[in-house]
Parts: sequence; structure tokens; C-alpha cells
Amino acid sequence: MDIQIRKVIGSDEQDITNVVVSAFGDEEGQEIADLITALLADPSAQPLLSLVATAHENIVGHVLFSNVCIKNAQRVVSATILAPLSVHPEYQKQGIGGRLIEEGLNRLKAAGVELVFVLGHPDYYAKYGFSSAGIKAFDAPYPIPPQNSEAWMVQELRPGIIGHVRGQVVCADTLNEEKYWQE
Ligand SMILES: CC(C)(COP(=O)(O)OP(=O)(O)OC[C@H]1O[C@@H](n2cnc3c(N)ncnc32)[C@H](O)[C@@H]1OP(=O)(O)O)[C@@H](O)C(=O)NCCC(=O)NCCS
Repeated sequence: MDIQIRKVIGSDEQDITNVVVSAFGDEEGQEIADLITALLADPSAQPLLSLVATAHENIVGHVLFSNVCIKNAQRVVSATILAPLSVHPEYQKQGIGGRLIEEGLNRLKAAGVELVFVLGHPDYYAKYGFSSAGIKAFDAPYPIPPQNSEAWMVQELRPGIIGHVRGQVVCADTLNEEKYWQE
């Protein structure tokens, strides 16, 4: 299937909402779609990267990366968080989620981003270079229960950060609500 990845444009909003609601279900999906809209308008989320996957020009997947800071870090680090990622159920398990992640990471690296965080399924995100962030001394914005600690993950896009920088991740105001951190 011919899948293209491109940056979001303004007229994509409703199509993205449809994909997110299909992927996450009506209730959670609408909440997550609203979160995306709020993040796009949130100055503290900038710079952000919002990408869609299209099949025959229809939007079938979406990923958002938004800016984070690291409180009390030894130096300023350019960092971002991947959230959320959605692929329409009819298009899942065909590598589209992976394509969105990889294209996002390539673009972020080219833009000089040094660290990328994610809170998600460890088996899935490990395939794309993420590993446990807690043991690398990066605290999540809210404590992650010990049984899910492996879900808090990071990867560096520029070598030499991990092991030299530590601190608490502070995300955009919109994402900085405890309900988004109950993995
Ligand atoms: C998670 C999601 C984005 C993956 O998209 P996708 O295009 O199907 O992903 P890919 O094709 O790149 O990878 C599919 C693989 O990931 C696995 N996978 C999917 N969701 C997973 C999860 N939550 N935990 C572990 N593995 C998962 C699939 O089983 C599949 O494994 P396989 O290749 O061994 O069969 C998609 O399933 C989705 O939108 N899910 C609902 C929303 C969600 O949970 N988003 C992620 C949290 S923000």
C-alpha cells in the first residue's frame, strides 16, 4: 500500500479526530482528539511536530511530538515527547505506526532535538529505539506506578546526553495533568 507521511495542515483536524476516535474508541478517543487540538494551540508545547500518514490521500494515522523541558538539568537540552500516536484500526499492523515514529524521529534529529520521551507500551516502543527512562535518571512529570515503570521511556537523538543529564521532565501545560500519566 502506498503510505505517505507529511506534516499536518489546518484542514486535517477533523480527519485526525476521526482516526483518533477510531483508534482509541469513542470516549477516550474524543478526549485525546481534544488534547491534540489543545496542544496545537498551547504555546508551551512549541516547538511541536504533528505528522499524518495518508493512504490514497486519506488520513489513516497521526503522531504528535510536543516540547518538554528538563527541570534542574545540568544544561539546557532540546527535548520532546511523543503523544499521542494513532492508526485507524483498518490500517493497523501494517507498519504505519512505525513509519510515523521513524519519520518523526528523523525530522526531530534534523531539527536538533536531542532527547525524545514517550509513555507507552515498552515492547512496542523498544522496537523504535526507546528504553526505560527512569533508570537513566529522568523522572516523569507525575510518578509512574512501579509495576508500569518500564512504560516511561526515552531515546537520545544525539549521543552523549544520557548519563550526563538528569532531572524531571516538565511537559506542556496541556499535558501536565495527572490523568494523562496514569499508565
Ligand atoms: C499502537 C498503534 C499506534 C500501532 O500502530 P500500527 O500501525 O498497528 O503499528 P505497527 O504496524 O508499526 O506495529 C504493529 C505491531 O505493534 C504491536 N502493537 C500494537 N499495539 C501494541 C501495544 N499496545 N503493545 C504492544 N505491542 C503493540 C502489534 O501487535 C504489532 O506487532 P507485530 O508486528 O509483531 O504483529 C495502533 O495499534 C493504535 O492506534 N492503537 C490504539 C491507540 C494506541 O494505543 N496508541 C498508542 C498509545 S499513545
